[in-house]
Amino acid sequence: MKNIAVLVSGGGTNLQALIDAQNSGKITGGKITCVVSSNPNAYALTRAANNDIPTEVIRRKDFDTFEAYDEALTALLKAKNADLIVLAGFMTILGGKIISNFQNRIINIHPALIPSFCGEGYYGLRVHEEALKKGVKVTGATAHFVNEICDGGPIIIQKAVEVKTGDTPEVLQKRVMEQAEWLILPHAVDLFCNDKIKVIGNITEILE
Ligand code: GAR
Repeated sequence: MKNIAVLVSGGGTNLQALIDAQNSGKITGGKITCVVSSNPNAYALTRAANNDIPTEVIRRKDFDTFEAYDEALTALLKAKNADLIVLAGFMTILGGKIISNFQNRIINIHPALIPSFCGEGYYGLRVHEEALKKGVKVTGATAHFVNEICDGGPIIIQKAVEVKTGDTPEVLQKRVMEQAEWLILPHAVDLFCNDKIKVIGNITEILE
């Protein structure tokens, strides 16, 4: 059984999708053993507590330097014996130490089809605002491994979602979550936990 640590910052609907997938047997070979939040008021922490999952809070602003924060987060996840780290709406950039210690063992969910609408500054609602501004007719979500390039790591799964006339960023965000994020993130986690993702350079091969 792999130990899964889920990192969150906000509402935690992706965390909920992972918990639901675990409870319904859609994630095998792994178990969510801790939830780490960058925000002490995140509703995601309540979702974890409701499911008896241990929680931790670690805030960037409690450390003098980014390096000290990176060191502390890495030490925490090592102490938790995390085999897989899932970024489920985690809004703090990860440092080099944690990325090198957990190479191809950190999965992020991004609310667009990478390489569109990604990279520094593209997070949360902002991603959907930019997609609507550009006028794309199709957007979606991407589950990918995290490397030192922001949103640049190997892509695991993508799912397209239609943009509709009259969409607001909020309406589009909800559709992308319902039709893509909440499905592909648990699926990517299940594939990882069953050793079904082979990574060759920046490309993944799914062994299904
Ligand atoms: C999700 O849409 C997730 O894809 C996005 O933040 C939202 C978090 O919602 N993540 C990013 O933009 C990361 N770059 P949640 O807390 O309800 O899961």
